[in-house]
Amino acid sequence: MAKAAPRTVLITGCSSGIGLRMAVQLAQDPSKRFHVIATMRDLRKKDKLEAAAGDTLNKTLSIQRLDVCNDESVAECINSLPEKRLDVLVNNAGVGLVGPVESISIDDMKRIFETNFFGAIRMIKAVLPEMKQRRRGHIVVISSVMGLQGVPFNDVYAASKFAMEGFCESLAVQLLKFNIFISMVEPGPVNTEFEMKLMEEVARSEFPGADAATVRYFKEVYLPASHEIFTTMGQTPEYVAKAVVNVIAKERPPFRTQTNTLYTPLVALKYADTSGDLSVGTYYNLLFRFTGLFHLSMSFLKCITCSCFRRRVTPA
Ligand SMILES: NC(=O)c1ccc[n+]([C@@H]2O[C@H](COP(=O)([O-])OP(=O)(O)OC[C@H]3O[C@@H](n4cnc5c(N)ncnc54)[C@H](OP(=O)(O)O)[C@@H]3O)[C@@H](O)[C@H]2O)c1
Repeated sequence: MAKAAPRTVLITGCSSGIGLRMAVQLAQDPSKRFHVIATMRDLRKKDKLEAAAGDTLNKTLSIQRLDVCNDESVAECINSLPEKRLDVLVNNAGVGLVGPVESISIDDMKRIFETNFFGAIRMIKAVLPEMKQRRRGHIVVISSVMGLQGVPFNDVYAASKFAMEGFCESLAVQLLKFNIFISMVEPGPVNTEFEMKLMEEVARSEFPGADAATVRYFKEVYLPASHEIFTTMGQTPEYVAKAVVNVIAKERPPFRTQTNTLYTPLVALKYADTSGDLSVGTYYNLLFRFTGLFHLSMSFLKCITCSCFRRRVTPA
């Protein structure tokens, strides 16, 4: 029987982190089931991907420029595909934002939505007509557990991921009629450059407009807790990329995939109590009332998952 042609997979945000790892894993698929178009907004950053791609470069992996915030850039990239044909779109490009909401300008909030929400929608709108016409396609969105459960001081980032969840949950129903699947992948913390970029911004900010007590909670309670969560529960980008590859390889891909089972109970709290008080109260207690218990449970998790020995990723 003739071998099926490789599926074309376009991934946004491949200069680092999860996007880079997904591109390489798909390109190195032993059965050569995929041709990867690994995109990034700034081609000056392509060296790391080229090095990781090795022999697959310009064979099963090609690199193209694409800025998800720019209509022309998106059109140029999609128009360059033979017959504009794409089998799988992976919306991975994303940016984070943390801090007291009073100190964040509306323009900075819009910047997060411009990438995480409108950027992904711009991509979906660009590929849908052809996918609908062919009655075939798969759209993957790298969402977050913060698309299901809010986290203190991540208000705007969580809102951008919640928005994406609501958008895709609505669209997924219609698209099934066209044999097009949507999959949300919801990682917990992942040790990529993402957290470091956030911390660099935090180090630069003087939190204008936020009161002293809020800034103190942010710096002395939230930041140490967040750091501990990343070192204890953080997954590697390779692990998350593998989960995405598994979703892409499925004949009937699932709508939701959480990559970190340690988060499942926390997300389940909001469904266990529809008033929402259980999840809001639990987060409050963990962060502000029983901080000792929080640190103790992190130490326990560290021991049972051996994360003290995990290597953290640092920017090149
Ligand atoms: N790390 C985590 O803890 C975590 C947890 C859950 C979900 N996620 C999600 O996972 C995705 C990947 O993040 P990551 O952890 O791999 O972080 P990362 O290493 O910072 O990668 C983010 C990627 O997005 C790109 N990007 C940003 N704005 C873009 C734009 N306008 N157009 C095209 N690309 C753009 C970045 O490119 P530049 O290099 O040019 O900035 C970079 O390649 C994001 O959607 C993030 O929200 C991350």
